[in-house]
Amino acid sequence: PIEMITAFEALDSRGRPTVGCTVVTRGGARGRAIVPSGASTGSHEARELRDGGARYGGYGVRRAVANAEGELFEAVRGIDVTDQGAVDRALREADGTVDGGRLGANAILAVSVAAAQAAAASRGLPLYAAVSEGLRTLPMPMINIISGGAHAARALDIQDFLVVPVGAATFAEAIETVARVRAATGEVLRDRGATWALVADEGGYGPQLSSNREALEVLSDAFERAGLAPGDDIAVAIDVAATQFHFPTEGTYIWETENRRMRADELVEELVAWSTDFPIVSIEDALAEDDWVGWRTATQRLDAIQLLGDDLFVTSPDRLRRGIEEGVANAVLVKPNQIGTLSEAREVVEIAHAAGYATVLSARSGETEDHWLADLAVGWNTGQLKIGSTMRSERTAKWNRVLEIERELGEDIELARPTFGTGS
Ligand code: PGA
Ligand code: ZN
Repeated sequence: PIEMITAFEALDSRGRPTVGCTVVTRGGARGRAIVPSGASTGSHEARELRDGGARYGGYGVRRAVANAEGELFEAVRGIDVTDQGAVDRALREADGTVDGGRLGANAILAVSVAAAQAAAASRGLPLYAAVSEGLRTLPMPMINIISGGAHAARALDIQDFLVVPVGAATFAEAIETVARVRAATGEVLRDRGATWALVADEGGYGPQLSSNREALEVLSDAFERAGLAPGDDIAVAIDVAATQFHFPTEGTYIWETENRRMRADELVEELVAWSTDFPIVSIEDALAEDDWVGWRTATQRLDAIQLLGDDLFVTSPDRLRRGIEEGVANAVLVKPNQIGTLSEAREVVEIAHAAGYATVLSARSGETEDHWLADLAVGWNTGQLKIGSTMRSERTAKWNRVLEIERELGEDIELARPTFGTGS
């Protein structure tokens, strides 16, 4: 049973406050967790509690910390920590709101994850084993190389150009392949006279390029320079994060860097053209969070690749169910802090798999050194994991954790081979 909760105001990788929490059981097992925070957040996400006022420009989380130690602790006190469902239901009931905003989704998730860690400790298991109902695969990594949008001062309109090392035999080989691409990309950017020394929020490059498409050309050049075969060794994924440049009242999508204004169907055709010219296996948030009509068009035109809903689904069982019913997208990005508790995030993974939707577990742009997400990717068999780049410690903490688990499990576990959409 849970006997004590202590919490503290920590910092995330953007230097903003976030919630850290420790749960202690009567038997003396301890679990600790620090939660992340997004920048390009969807409007349907669970709501963090921020203090406002002058401290940290209003981003302080002292009230959320107090709620973790106060009302949330009172709600879970005495509950068996190994019953994650009971812990999470109690947290939800104590808050009482749909979006977690009264006590803070940041406080709720911190307690939820710290409880899971305490449960694992009480059973003498690593977190991935404690949450697992049968290990199947290590996640295929999806790794950021070039950033734009909200993560790189809008140097490009598209938020994320990533790579997937589809030809790697092991997780360790996957990481090494991508580290090679990252280094080669730096050389390509330098040769093209683009800025390459600056690091974006997720550890990728944040170059000023002449067009969004040029980022794909840079990646192609980098593959060649690194001696990797496009499509066989390495593939491309993009996170359009279209909510960020959608103007709903006019029904248009606007790319500032190219001075282009598009309807949803025109944006989709641009993405179709990219997918023909480049080895793209996954497109995230191709359309804005509430553009269900545009999303249906995208799904009809691009179903052969992975169509990943992030702002669209916000890790919500209800929104994912609607997407499945309407035949929208074919994969879901899973970010536990979009919904609030581990149980709900896990439910989304299960709903997705039952419907044949792929799952990509994802970090946020504001992260910390904590690496519980890596354990969840293995334990929940998500098949894919998206963390950011191969540098900056808040990113490498998670990659390093999967590398450690791969060594620990040895030949007992293989790297996942996602199918990326219905057609490939
Ligand atoms: P965020 O971005 O954490 O800033 O929301 C990540 C993403 O859009 O996938
Ligand atoms: Zn996204």
